[in-house]
Order: sequence, then structure tokens, then C-alpha cells
Amino acid sequence: MTLEQIRELVNTDFEAVDRVIKRRLHSQVALVDQVATYIIYSGGKRLRPLLVLLAARACGHVRDQHVDAAAIIEFIHTATLLHDDVVDGSSLRRGRKTANEVFGNAASVLVGDFLYSRSFQMMVTLNRMSIMEIIADATNAISEGEVLQLMNAHDPNTTEARYIDVIQRKTARLFQAGAQIGAVLSDAPPLIEESLARYGRHIGTAFQLVDDALDYQADEASLGKHLGDDLAEGKPTLPLIYAMQHGNDTQRDMIRHAIEDGGLRHLDEITRAVASLGGLAYTARLAQSEADQALAALEPLPETIFKEGLSELARFAVARKH
Ligand code: IPE
Ligand code: IPE
Ligand code: MG
Ligand code: MG
Repeated sequence: MTLEQIRELVNTDFEAVDRVIKRRLHSQVALVDQVATYIIYSGGKRLRPLLVLLAARACGHVRDQHVDAAAIIEFIHTATLLHDDVVDGSSLRRGRKTANEVFGNAASVLVGDFLYSRSFQMMVTLNRMSIMEIIADATNAISEGEVLQLMNAHDPNTTEARYIDVIQRKTARLFQAGAQIGAVLSDAPPLIEESLARYGRHIGTAFQLVDDALDYQADEASLGKHLGDDLAEGKPTLPLIYAMQHGNDTQRDMIRHAIEDGGLRHLDEITRAVASLGGLAYTARLAQSEADQALAALEPLPETIFKEGLSELARFAVARKH
């Protein structure tokens, strides 16, 4: 299945999510409207809302709260992107200029805060303490992940374990929360709720591993982001960590210094080294193993087309080019 075909499975819900997003974006403050609209309408993949909807449907019994929950998760994701592009100094996302590039850092940070707080307002209307707890914990973990990553930046001694800890917090936790919320809103039994949470954690980890490999190998036009953004910020992601462990002294020193100093002076050489030393292949293998664990976690779910959609989403997470 393509991503479009997976979306088709929950098409009515998916369109309803879009309507909620557009309605709840609104603010009487013009600049808030402008920045939030710029990023929300710029065509993200909407993977996390899709995950919420599929998870809810895969558990059978569905009321209408899953649509609002999916919109809440997308708002939180969007807020993290607004903040992330400021801290990463990124200028391209979704094939267009980032909000910080167009409106400046201050506007991006503040409108990110607006989206976070709007998602809190929406959570209150759901009036489900368990949902509130899952989302609050996930949002808190994302911030910790971003701060941990900041502490690892420019440190070439960052280990694979420290790297994995970062990506599980900054990315996997929101996927985990989305899948778990789908289960909770469908009154799924604890075993199914745990299975879906585990599925979300593994697919989210796979997703970020692939993202970090794409930073060294993607086609910029289909990725919609600049290549080398991670290197420019001195981020010791897994392709670099692996290449440093397996390169000769010259290669290792080149990568070490690039992480310490940041910048893109050696991007081409490092990109070649990362590929030839197996850093991309290793990262892809780990992503595949995470996707396999995501698929295995789905096992206790009843056989439905929505479970099939969740499986396809795990395959998309590793095969994607954007
Ligand atoms: C980007 O996520 C941030 C990461 C976790 C790598 P997506 O690739 O899901 O972003 P959009 O919403 O589709 O642009
Ligand atoms: C993604 O961060 C995770 C969050 C936004 C919290 P990255 O910095 O790795 O993702 P991209 O490459 O900017 O999308
Ligand atoms: Mg970034
Ligand atoms: Mg980042």
C-alpha cells in the first residue's frame, strides 16, 4: 500500500481531522494565524494522526473522540517542528522555507507555544484523565529528548546508546502516545493497549533512524529538507557514530572534527565515508529490526483492514524517501 492508500482506509475520519485542525488553528491575533497556517497548510505527511485513527479503528469500538485526539497529536508535532527548526537553524521544511526563515525565530517559538497550549485546551475538552496523562508525559519526554540531544551536540564520544535514548524520547514517544490513545479511546483491553504502545514506540524509532540516514543520502527535492542539516549542527547521529567506529584514523579524525566544529565544509567527503563504511546500511538494518518489532507487536490485534494499515505504515517508515 502507498501512504495514500493507507489514508484511504480512514478517509472520512482523516478529513474530519483536517477540519478540526483548521478550525482550532484560529486565533484573533493575526500573526498567530499567519504562522500557524503557514506551517499546518504546508503539507506534512500527517503520519501521527493517521496512527491514532488506525489504532482506534483496529480496536473496533470507536466513538468520535479519536478525531480530536488525532488533531491534538498533530498540533503537538507541529509545535515541536516550529521549535526544532529554530534550535537546528533549519531553513527548509516540507519543500518550502521554514517558518523561522520567513517570520523569524521569535515568531516561530511563540507560535509553537500557541500550538502546545491550544492542544492543552483541546485535551481538556476530551475530559479523559488517562489521555491527558499519556499526552502530557509524551510532550515532556520530547522536551527531554531535545535537551539531551543538545547536550550530545558537538560531542564525538556520544555512544549509540545515548543516541538511541535521544530518538526514543524526541520522536518515538509521540508515535507511542498516538497509538496508545487510539486504543484507550476504543476501550481496548490492557493487553491491546500495551501492544499498540509498543508498536508505536518501535515504528517511531524506525522512523527517526531512517530520518537520520536520509540526512546523508536523500534526494533533497523529495525530502523537502536540506541534506547535511545534522552535520551542520554537529549532531552525532548513528550513521556518523558507526562510521567513526569502522573508519581508519584519517576518516575518524575527519568525522570527529566535523562533529566538534559543525558546519558543512567536509559534507561530501563525510557523506561518501558514511556510505562506504556501512553507516547507512547499519542504520537501515536497525530501522528494519525496529519495524519488524512493530509488526510483531501487532500480533494480538484482530485481523482487520486497519491492522493491515498499521502494518503497512511500519513498512512505509523504513522504505520512505520523504
Ligand atoms: C519530522 O517528522 C520530524 C521527525 C521526527 C523526523 P515528519 O517527517 O513526520 O514531518 P511532516 O509532518 O511529515 O513534515
Ligand atoms: C525531530 O527532530 C524530532 C522533533 C521535532 C522533536 P529532527 O531535527 O531530527 O528532525 P528534522 O530532520 O528537523 O525533521
Ligand atoms: Mg531538525
Ligand atoms: Mg532537531
